[in-house]
Amino acid sequence: MEKNFRLEIADKTRLPESEPERQYYFMDIAREYVSRLAADKGSPLTFHVTTFGCQMNARDSEKLAGILTCIGYVECETEDADFVIYNTCTVRENANNKVYGRLGYLGTLKKKNPRMMIGLCGCMMQEQTVVDKLKESYRFVNLIFGTHNIYKFAELAVTAMENSFSGHPHKGAVGMTIDIWKDTDKIVEDLPVERKYAFKSGVNIMFGCNNFCSYCIVPYVRGRERSREPAEIIREIKRLVADGVVEVMLLGQNVNSYGKNLKEPMTFAQLLEEVEQIEGLERIRFMTSHPKDLSDELIAVMKKSKKICRHLHLPLQSGSSRILKKMNRCYDKEHYLALVDKIRAAIPDIALTTDIIVGFPGETEEDFAETLDVVRRVEYDSAFTFLYSKRTGTPAAAMEEQIPEPEVKERFDRLLAEVQEISAKKARRLTGCTLPVLIEEKNEQDAALVTGRLDNNSVVHLPGTADMIGQICQVYLEECRGFYYIGTPVTDGNGASDKQG
Ligand code: SAH
Ligand code: SF4
Ligand code: F3S
Repeated sequence: MEKNFRLEIADKTRLPESEPERQYYFMDIAREYVSRLAADKGSPLTFHVTTFGCQMNARDSEKLAGILTCIGYVECETEDADFVIYNTCTVRENANNKVYGRLGYLGTLKKKNPRMMIGLCGCMMQEQTVVDKLKESYRFVNLIFGTHNIYKFAELAVTAMENSFSGHPHKGAVGMTIDIWKDTDKIVEDLPVERKYAFKSGVNIMFGCNNFCSYCIVPYVRGRERSREPAEIIREIKRLVADGVVEVMLLGQNVNSYGKNLKEPMTFAQLLEEVEQIEGLERIRFMTSHPKDLSDELIAVMKKSKKICRHLHLPLQSGSSRILKKMNRCYDKEHYLALVDKIRAAIPDIALTTDIIVGFPGETEEDFAETLDVVRRVEYDSAFTFLYSKRTGTPAAAMEEQIPEPEVKERFDRLLAEVQEISAKKARRLTGCTLPVLIEEKNEQDAALVTGRLDNNSVVHLPGTADMIGQICQVYLEECRGFYYIGTPVTDGNGASDKQG
């Protein structure tokens, strides 16, 4: 960096008060700053956003990338970039540890690149102890913000650049720019988004969570439940479809409680029916469904739908009614199993997947046996299994009878073996069928193959080329290898694959 390089602070006298106009105003200022920094560097500035955690964070990262692109940064593959953002997760302790480990590495990169900006955001930043630790030991971080003010990223980036490069740090900021809110009732629409995939996209339908499962930190870091207006959701999906998207994943911590707090309440099933009408959209997925709120109306809508994928992620957490009560899940083993029966009776070919926590405080061998029992009875197509992680501030963290780690690990291994055996058996059942596959990417290992997904979310590898990405092809599932299929495209007389729809 030029020795005398100083950013001149822009005039902000005509600052709009309403959103998103205010953020577009800051994007104009940021663009100017970025062009001056790029002129000093002699080439375009680069950015990299690293995402930890769930689909919701992945979608937020696309929003950050949208703004960075809009202000003149160019995306690059590695973290050796001019603006690096870690969008963090704190659902389990090991998610936090990963971030601290990698931050050290970013610090060494920054020593070599004086133009480098490091930003941290996401769920972990909503915890005071984390921010205190960063202030104490990671002074090289330029910008820290939380989950509630992510829409303000353009404005925060401008402040952070001024604090870092103008020689006039804003009052109280001392180089680091920190802005964390406790909660919000605001939803800001219409900011730029840079999608990772051209043909599929996540779409937030709601934010936050009101369920307070006793082990879970999400309600504390994502705030109270807020649903987006259906008209805004439909408008966004129509725009996405016009831009080449064929599959959407509707996102919320508990989509089954969508719409309860809208001015004109509506159900999730009603929203799905509206989304179904969108011409050109081929597949609809959603994540996540809380078993306590899954309605008959939703099952009926899924059953008759031509676009909703035959896949339901239905987190079990534990098979023991006693533990479920302590978890505050508001259903018991019998209710869960009855729900599964009802869903399967209506939609026999549906794939069911789940999340399970092992080692919740007080879990006995008998409780664990109940979990295994549900796993064997439901026969999940796949299951994410987690070691219970104590999250400070949650009711479960204060419970007595925390289970010693070796015991939890031993149960976890037994559960994993069971889950894997069942998934492998389930996967095989589609061998020999011809089914539509959405081609998603080139195969990483073999350049002659492409990789896609069945509507039930199973992965299929097949011979193909990059121009097939984003298309839905009929594929003969020749062989099942553990958790994925090897297939061959079924072509019509002209050598072209059939397209669904
Ligand atoms: N809202 C979603 C879950 C989001 S968190 C739902 O309720 O389905 C994703 C998963 O992380 C949860 O389903 C749970 O299985 C797991 N999880 C959450 N808190 C955890 C903790 N403290 N320890 C271990 N796993 C946890
Ligand atoms: Fe956490 Fe429960 Fe909310 Fe899911 S529903 S995010 S597990 S509190
Ligand atoms: Fe993690 Fe936050 Fe998602 S804690 S799982 S990134 S909502």
